Amino acid sequence: MTHLNDRTLTSSGFYVSQEAPIHSDNPIATPTSPAPDILRCAYMELVVTDLAASREFYVDVLGLYVTEEDERTVYLRSTEEFIHHNLVLRQGDVAAVAAFSYRVRTPEDLDKAVAFYTELGCEVRREPGGFTKGIGDSVRVIDPLGFPYEFFYQTDHVERLSWRYDLHTPGELVRLDHFNQVTPDVPRAVKFMQDLGFRVTEDIQDDAGTVYAAWMRRKPTVHDTAMTGGDGPRMHHVAFATHEKHNILAICDKLGALRRSDAIERGPGRHGVSNAFYLYLRDPDGHRVEIYTQDYYTGDPDNPVVTWDVHDNQRRDWWGNPVVPSWYTEASLVLDLDGNPQPVVARTDDSEMEVTVGADGFSYTRRDDADGGGVQGFKLGATL
Ligand SMILES: [Fe+2]
Repeated sequence: MTHLNDRTLTSSGFYVSQEAPIHSDNPIATPTSPAPDILRCAYMELVVTDLAASREFYVDVLGLYVTEEDERTVYLRSTEEFIHHNLVLRQGDVAAVAAFSYRVRTPEDLDKAVAFYTELGCEVRREPGGFTKGIGDSVRVIDPLGFPYEFFYQTDHVERLSWRYDLHTPGELVRLDHFNQVTPDVPRAVKFMQDLGFRVTEDIQDDAGTVYAAWMRRKPTVHDTAMTGGDGPRMHHVAFATHEKHNILAICDKLGALRRSDAIERGPGRHGVSNAFYLYLRDPDGHRVEIYTQDYYTGDPDNPVVTWDVHDNQRRDWWGNPVVPSWYTEASLVLDLDGNPQPVVARTDDSEMEVTVGADGFSYTRRDDADGGGVQGFKLGATL
């Protein structure tokens, strides 16, 4: 469901509105307990099946910095980070995500997190010593959407390596930028995340009101996480930022030189959504990693919400390049708080891949082409 009445068509081809034009007809009840004040996405804990292979990919190929490691776990951070880690690689039997972790503003926000999720009937665990090294008092929950979320404030500070140019590589990953989650019912997920204090910045819909994806933020960028419509709960990708586009091209060149171009799943390219330059990689377990740069500031309270037509073939790639099917269908399992994979629920709303890939006759480069019948504005998408 959606509210499309108050939107304005821009000269760039998408719509803007003041309120997120998304309405759930199956909402999760809003808790009376206030939400914790979330600062930003902070780290992801990934379970990997071959720790040495994953370490090689993230450290030797992508250049993340090892803060600390032992035989079963590697703690990694990006160049500008001063908290202990942005990525934990933990050896395990099943490749999956153990935690999407967010930093909160104060230690007291953890009490709020406990109350907020307890009121929702969620499983909630608090670990005063932290669930991972370098992180103090933490709360982990299985949220109403089935995702393992973590909140913390206390963390060991480590050196920010921005000035250590002697260590930098041409493809330097400077920040953790965002998560991306796969969930069957995007409006339901958006409503819940709004209750948690997130604001929608962009979304993809069709004229019938089906919502295919939405991007939401706490920090003033396009997102800290996105909800992608599909079978879930699963993890679509984790994204690290570079400073410039050429850093992403350097990563592509390096993978080519290493004869590892098969790690490149999609891109490089320019997103329509977010306006960011992007590259999608798959790690040795198939976990998807995005390299991302140059989205835009969203911190004002009246920041316009951008809505893309699902049939606009520039929404996912501004140059009109097609999205590969694996990008739509494949994603990582997520774990419950005991380490077991969460069951995956099928999406029943229309699939973005089904309505846009292939000879559906509705994807356009120029909207008039789709409206006018006859010759369609297809580019490469029609050939898949
Ligand atoms: Fe992304």
